[in-house]
Amino acid sequence: MTIDLPRLARLTFHGPLSEARATAMVQRLAANRPRTVLDIGCGWAELLLRVLAAVPGATGTGVDLNAEDLARARKNAEERGLGDRVRFAEESAVGTERGPADLVLCLGATQALSEAEPPTAEALRALRRLVTDRGRVLVGEGFWQRPPTEAELSGMWPGAAPDDHDDLRGLLDLAVEAGFRPEWTETASPQEWEEFESGYQAGLEVWLAQHPDHPLAPETRARLDRHRGQWMSYRGVLGIAYLTLVPDLR
Ligand SMILES: C[S@@+](CC[C@H](N)C(=O)[O-])C[C@H]1O[C@@H](n2cnc3c(N)ncnc32)[C@H](O)[C@@H]1O
Repeated sequence: MTIDLPRLARLTFHGPLSEARATAMVQRLAANRPRTVLDIGCGWAELLLRVLAAVPGATGTGVDLNAEDLARARKNAEERGLGDRVRFAEESAVGTERGPADLVLCLGATQALSEAEPPTAEALRALRRLVTDRGRVLVGEGFWQRPPTEAELSGMWPGAAPDDHDDLRGLLDLAVEAGFRPEWTETASPQEWEEFESGYQAGLEVWLAQHPDHPLAPETRARLDRHRGQWMSYRGVLGIAYLTLVPDLR
Protein backbone atom coordinates (compact mmCIF):
# COMPACT_ATOMS: atom_id res chain seq x y z
CA MET A 1 0.00 0.00 0.00
CA THR A 2 1.29 3.49 -0.84
CA ILE A 3 0.17 6.98 0.10
CA ASP A 4 -1.18 8.77 -2.95
CA LEU A 5 0.91 11.94 -2.57
CA PRO A 6 3.37 13.42 -5.07
CA ARG A 7 6.91 12.96 -3.72
CA LEU A 8 8.33 16.12 -2.12
CA ALA A 9 5.80 18.23 -4.03
CA ARG A 10 6.23 21.19 -1.66
CA LEU A 11 9.93 21.55 -2.59
CA THR A 12 11.29 23.52 -5.55
CA PHE A 13 14.84 22.25 -4.94
CA HIS A 14 15.85 19.11 -3.08
CA GLY A 15 18.05 21.11 -0.73
CA PRO A 16 18.22 24.41 1.20
CA LEU A 17 18.32 26.79 -1.77
CA SER A 18 16.29 30.01 -2.06
CA GLU A 19 14.86 31.52 -5.24
CA ALA A 20 17.18 34.53 -4.82
CA ARG A 21 20.32 32.41 -4.51
CA ALA A 22 19.28 30.12 -7.39
CA THR A 23 18.65 33.11 -9.65
CA ALA A 24 22.09 34.57 -8.88
CA MET A 25 23.74 31.18 -9.44
CA VAL A 26 22.06 30.71 -12.81
CA GLN A 27 23.16 34.21 -13.91
CA ARG A 28 26.75 33.53 -12.84
CA LEU A 29 26.89 30.09 -14.48
CA ALA A 30 25.13 31.21 -17.66
CA ALA A 31 27.63 34.07 -18.08
CA ASN A 32 30.30 31.46 -18.90
CA ARG A 33 28.13 30.32 -21.86
CA PRO A 34 28.28 26.55 -21.26
CA ARG A 35 27.42 24.50 -24.34
CA THR A 36 27.01 21.30 -22.34
CA VAL A 37 25.71 20.82 -18.80
CA LEU A 38 25.95 17.62 -16.75
CA ASP A 39 23.91 17.29 -13.55
CA ILE A 40 25.15 14.55 -11.21
CA GLY A 41 22.47 13.24 -8.83
CA CYS A 42 20.07 15.60 -10.58
CA GLY A 43 16.83 14.55 -8.87
CA TRP A 44 14.12 16.51 -10.68
CA ALA A 45 16.88 18.78 -12.06
CA GLU A 46 15.36 22.19 -11.33
CA LEU A 47 18.69 24.05 -11.53
CA LEU A 48 19.76 22.23 -14.70
CA LEU A 49 16.50 23.22 -16.41
CA ARG A 50 16.93 26.85 -15.31
CA VAL A 51 20.48 26.98 -16.70
CA LEU A 52 19.32 25.51 -20.02
CA ALA A 53 16.51 28.08 -20.18
CA ALA A 54 19.09 30.84 -19.60
CA VAL A 55 21.57 29.62 -22.23
CA PRO A 56 19.88 29.13 -25.62
CA GLY A 57 21.31 26.17 -27.50
CA ALA A 58 22.98 24.55 -24.50
CA THR A 59 22.25 20.86 -24.02
CA GLY A 60 22.06 18.96 -20.76
CA THR A 61 22.27 15.51 -19.23
CA GLY A 62 20.93 14.58 -15.81
CA VAL A 63 21.91 11.37 -14.03
CA ASP A 64 20.09 9.92 -11.04
CA LEU A 65 18.90 6.62 -9.61
CA ASN A 66 15.44 7.83 -8.63
CA ALA A 67 12.94 7.07 -11.41
CA GLU A 68 10.13 9.13 -9.86
CA ASP A 69 12.29 12.26 -9.60
CA LEU A 70 13.54 11.74 -13.18
CA ALA A 71 9.93 11.51 -14.38
CA ARG A 72 9.26 14.89 -12.70
CA ALA A 73 12.39 16.27 -14.44
CA ARG A 74 11.26 15.03 -17.88
CA LYS A 75 7.75 16.43 -17.38
CA ASN A 76 9.09 19.85 -16.32
CA ALA A 77 11.49 19.85 -19.28
CA GLU A 78 8.66 19.18 -21.71
CA GLU A 79 6.42 21.81 -20.13
CA ARG A 80 9.19 24.43 -20.41
CA GLY A 81 9.99 23.61 -24.05
CA LEU A 82 13.37 22.10 -23.14
CA GLY A 83 12.56 18.47 -23.91
CA ASP A 84 14.75 18.35 -27.03
CA ARG A 85 17.79 19.83 -25.24
CA VAL A 86 17.99 17.57 -22.21
CA ARG A 87 18.08 13.85 -21.51
CA PHE A 88 17.93 12.00 -18.27
CA ALA A 89 19.64 8.72 -17.47
CA GLU A 90 18.51 6.43 -14.68
CA GLU A 91 21.91 5.12 -13.61
CA SER A 92 24.56 5.45 -10.95
CA ALA A 93 27.11 8.22 -11.43
CA VAL A 94 29.82 6.30 -9.56
CA GLY A 95 32.63 5.94 -12.12
CA THR A 96 30.56 7.74 -14.77
CA GLU A 97 32.21 8.44 -18.11
CA ARG A 98 29.66 11.07 -19.11
CA GLY A 99 31.41 14.34 -19.74
CA PRO A 100 33.50 16.32 -20.03
CA ALA A 101 30.90 19.08 -19.86
CA ASP A 102 31.31 22.87 -19.72
CA LEU A 103 29.24 23.01 -16.56
CA VAL A 104 28.88 20.22 -14.03
CA LEU A 105 26.29 20.50 -11.27
CA CYS A 106 26.44 18.28 -8.18
CA LEU A 107 24.07 19.57 -5.54
CA GLY A 108 23.70 17.54 -2.37
CA ALA A 109 24.93 14.51 -4.28
CA THR A 110 28.67 13.85 -3.82
CA GLN A 111 27.60 10.35 -2.72
CA ALA A 112 26.54 9.84 -6.35
CA LEU A 113 30.19 10.03 -7.46
CA SER A 114 31.97 8.07 -4.77
CA GLU A 115 31.25 5.23 -2.41
CA ALA A 116 34.06 6.36 -0.07
CA GLU A 117 33.03 7.60 3.37
CA PRO A 118 32.99 10.51 3.36
CA PRO A 119 32.73 10.82 -0.44
CA THR A 120 33.79 14.47 -0.69
CA ALA A 121 37.48 14.30 -1.68
CA GLU A 122 37.01 11.53 -4.26
CA ALA A 123 33.90 13.22 -5.64
CA LEU A 124 35.74 16.52 -6.10
CA ARG A 125 38.50 14.72 -8.04
CA ALA A 126 35.84 13.06 -10.20
CA LEU A 127 34.24 16.46 -10.83
CA ARG A 128 37.59 17.80 -12.05
CA ARG A 129 37.74 14.94 -14.59
CA LEU A 130 34.15 15.60 -15.70
CA VAL A 131 34.52 19.34 -16.44
CA THR A 132 36.22 20.97 -19.42
CA ASP A 133 39.28 23.13 -18.71
CA ARG A 134 37.40 26.42 -19.29
CA GLY A 135 34.26 25.18 -17.56
CA ARG A 136 32.71 25.48 -14.11
CA VAL A 137 31.55 23.13 -11.39
CA LEU A 138 28.82 23.99 -8.92
CA VAL A 139 28.95 21.64 -5.96
CA GLY A 140 26.63 21.77 -2.97
CA GLU A 141 28.22 19.94 -0.05
CA GLY A 142 27.77 19.62 3.69
CA PHE A 143 30.20 21.03 6.24
CA TRP A 144 30.20 21.45 10.01
CA GLN A 145 29.37 24.99 11.03
CA ARG A 146 30.95 24.08 14.38
CA PRO A 147 32.12 20.76 15.78
CA PRO A 148 29.08 18.62 16.66
CA THR A 149 28.75 17.40 20.25
CA GLU A 150 28.40 13.67 20.98
CA ALA A 151 24.77 14.26 21.99
CA GLU A 152 24.04 16.04 18.70
CA LEU A 153 25.76 13.31 16.65
CA SER A 154 23.73 10.60 18.35
CA GLY A 155 20.53 12.36 17.23
CA MET A 156 21.57 12.81 13.57
CA TRP A 157 21.59 10.14 10.83
CA PRO A 158 22.50 6.58 11.88
CA GLY A 159 26.25 6.29 12.48
CA ALA A 160 26.87 10.05 12.28
CA ALA A 161 30.51 10.79 13.13
CA PRO A 162 32.73 13.90 13.44
CA ASP A 163 34.65 13.03 10.26
CA ASP A 164 31.50 12.79 8.12
CA HIS A 165 32.24 16.40 7.17
CA ASP A 166 34.98 19.02 7.21
CA ASP A 167 34.54 22.60 8.32
CA LEU A 168 34.23 25.18 5.54
CA ARG A 169 37.98 25.83 5.50
CA GLY A 170 38.65 22.10 5.11
CA LEU A 171 36.03 21.73 2.37
CA LEU A 172 37.57 24.58 0.38
CA ASP A 173 41.03 23.05 0.85
CA LEU A 174 39.72 19.75 -0.58
CA ALA A 175 38.39 21.60 -3.62
CA VAL A 176 41.78 23.27 -4.16
CA GLU A 177 43.59 19.93 -3.71
CA ALA A 178 41.28 18.41 -6.33
CA GLY A 179 42.47 20.98 -8.89
CA PHE A 180 40.08 23.92 -8.56
CA ARG A 181 40.07 27.56 -7.49
CA PRO A 182 36.91 28.78 -5.76
CA GLU A 183 35.20 31.42 -7.88
CA TRP A 184 32.30 31.87 -5.46
CA THR A 185 31.68 30.56 -1.95
CA GLU A 186 28.28 30.76 -0.31
CA THR A 187 26.44 28.87 2.41
CA ALA A 188 22.76 28.17 3.00
CA SER A 189 21.14 30.52 5.50
CA PRO A 190 19.05 29.41 8.50
CA GLN A 191 15.96 30.58 6.59
CA GLU A 192 16.84 28.41 3.57
CA TRP A 193 17.26 25.42 5.90
CA GLU A 194 13.92 26.04 7.58
CA GLU A 195 12.12 26.36 4.25
CA PHE A 196 13.74 23.17 3.00
CA GLU A 197 13.12 21.08 6.11
CA SER A 198 9.54 22.30 6.42
CA GLY A 199 8.84 21.68 2.74
CA TYR A 200 10.45 18.25 3.03
CA GLN A 201 7.91 17.11 5.61
CA ALA A 202 4.90 19.38 4.96
CA GLY A 203 2.98 17.25 2.46
CA LEU A 204 3.12 14.13 4.63
CA GLU A 205 2.46 16.07 7.85
CA VAL A 206 -0.78 17.49 6.47
CA TRP A 207 -1.79 14.06 5.11
CA LEU A 208 -1.08 12.42 8.49
CA ALA A 209 -3.03 15.01 10.44
CA GLN A 210 -6.04 14.38 8.18
CA HIS A 211 -5.76 10.56 7.98
CA PRO A 212 -5.04 9.45 11.57
CA ASP A 213 -6.76 6.07 11.07
CA HIS A 214 -5.11 5.14 7.76
CA PRO A 215 -3.22 1.82 7.93
CA LEU A 216 0.00 3.65 7.00
CA ALA A 217 -0.48 6.39 9.64
CA PRO A 218 1.59 4.74 12.43
CA GLU A 219 4.71 4.17 10.30
CA THR A 220 4.34 7.58 8.64
CA ARG A 221 4.11 9.25 12.06
CA ALA A 222 7.22 7.36 13.22
CA ARG A 223 9.14 8.36 10.07
CA LEU A 224 8.18 12.03 10.37
CA ASP A 225 8.99 12.11 14.09
CA ARG A 226 12.36 10.45 13.43
CA HIS A 227 13.30 12.94 10.71
CA ARG A 228 12.18 15.93 12.80
CA GLY A 229 14.36 14.66 15.65
CA GLN A 230 17.33 14.35 13.30
CA TRP A 231 16.78 17.86 11.97
CA MET A 232 16.65 19.28 15.50
CA SER A 233 20.03 17.60 16.11
CA TYR A 234 21.82 18.95 13.01
CA ARG A 235 20.01 22.31 12.90
CA GLY A 236 22.64 25.07 13.12
CA VAL A 237 25.46 22.49 13.16
CA LEU A 238 25.37 21.04 9.64
CA GLY A 239 25.82 23.59 6.89
CA ILE A 240 25.56 23.35 3.11
CA ALA A 241 28.17 25.20 1.08
CA TYR A 242 27.63 26.03 -2.59
CA LEU A 243 31.03 26.28 -4.26
CA THR A 244 31.37 27.58 -7.81
CA LEU A 245 34.71 26.11 -8.86
CA VAL A 246 37.07 26.95 -11.72
CA PRO A 247 39.57 24.36 -12.99
CA ASP A 248 43.08 25.39 -11.95
CA LEU A 249 45.11 25.15 -15.17
CA ARG A 250 48.58 25.47 -13.63
C1 LIG B 1 19.66 15.57 -1.97
S1 LIG B 1 19.23 14.92 -3.54
C2 LIG B 1 19.67 16.31 -4.57
C3 LIG B 1 18.94 16.33 -5.89
C4 LIG B 1 19.27 17.53 -6.80
N1 LIG B 1 20.69 17.63 -7.09
C5 LIG B 1 18.78 18.83 -6.18
O1 LIG B 1 19.60 19.56 -5.60
O2 LIG B 1 17.57 19.11 -6.25
C6 LIG B 1 20.52 13.73 -3.88
C7 LIG B 1 20.27 12.94 -5.16
O3 LIG B 1 21.39 12.08 -5.41
C8 LIG B 1 20.87 10.90 -6.02
N2 LIG B 1 21.87 9.81 -5.94
C9 LIG B 1 22.32 9.17 -4.84
N3 LIG B 1 23.22 8.22 -5.18
C10 LIG B 1 23.35 8.28 -6.53
C11 LIG B 1 24.16 7.57 -7.47
N4 LIG B 1 24.99 6.61 -7.10
N5 LIG B 1 24.05 7.91 -8.78
C12 LIG B 1 23.21 8.88 -9.19
N6 LIG B 1 22.41 9.59 -8.33
C13 LIG B 1 22.49 9.29 -7.03
C14 LIG B 1 19.60 10.63 -5.23
O4 LIG B 1 18.73 9.76 -5.91
C15 LIG B 1 19.05 12.05 -5.09
O5 LIG B 1 18.17 12.40 -6.14
